Amino acid sequence: MKKILIWTSLFIVLAGCTQDDQGASLNAKSADGVQFGIKTKSPLELVVESDDNEQEQEKEKESEQNGSEADVITVDNPHETDVIVNKQRRLPEGFEPKDLVEPNVSFNAPEGNPKRLMKKEAAQALEDLFEGAKNAGFDLYAQSGYRSIETQTWIYNNNVETKGQEHADKYSAVPGHSEHHTGLAMDITIPLETGGFLGLEEALGETDAGQWVAEHAHEYGFVIRYPEGKSHITGYEYEPWHLRYFGIELATEIHESRLTVEEFFDLY
Ligand code: DAL
Ligand code: ZN
Repeated sequence: MKKILIWTSLFIVLAGCTQDDQGASLNAKSADGVQFGIKTKSPLELVVESDDNEQEQEKEKESEQNGSEADVITVDNPHETDVIVNKQRRLPEGFEPKDLVEPNVSFNAPEGNPKRLMKKEAAQALEDLFEGAKNAGFDLYAQSGYRSIETQTWIYNNNVETKGQEHADKYSAVPGHSEHHTGLAMDITIPLETGGFLGLEEALGETDAGQWVAEHAHEYGFVIRYPEGKSHITGYEYEPWHLRYFGIELATEIHESRLTVEEFFDLY
């Protein structure tokens, strides 16, 4: 990659130029069709990058992050407990989970909201997990379980709008790719001594309650689906709050392997 630094004391107005906090950029094509990316680091500094592989590299990066259309496969077992959805694996169009019920647990979610639902088997297991936590001295609350495709679309788009594409893709699944849509996932939280809830925060993993969950969730059939330091494999940042139901046997095998779900199922 060739890089040429051009300093200029003039403001240059470029057609098609976009400007944000990170500086400005322009994509142009030379006469021979080679792509040029021009980015300003500040209004006075231009970095000209001439790189005919740049588009390809961008594509690869995007594909690693989100799965390009060509990479994405549609799962054929969306109703199974061991279904794996991630950035490369999506649920079929029109999929809806069967037997959604509301677990009898404490919620940090409005009554009647569909996000209180999970598949029946997972809901029963969540009740057992919360009971186990209570016996160990921890109050857990369920915050977000089942999401329809419309809800996931709203969440994803809202995250893109408010936090930007990059951040959104680190924490929220593109509609059709979310475990919440399967009815097998529940985000959990804990109450704060000062009132209210911790919400869905990384800090949960450092609390005694969060550590108890990390050590014992598999005994009830759950795994922490997006472990710390594994975003290059799972595609998502650490989410100590996101519990995924696999059933006790499988969850225990996954937990004891110390592998991510992608590695455990040879999908990485
Ligand atoms: N937060 C997880 C990745 C989801 O949106 O499904
Ligand atoms: Zn979640």
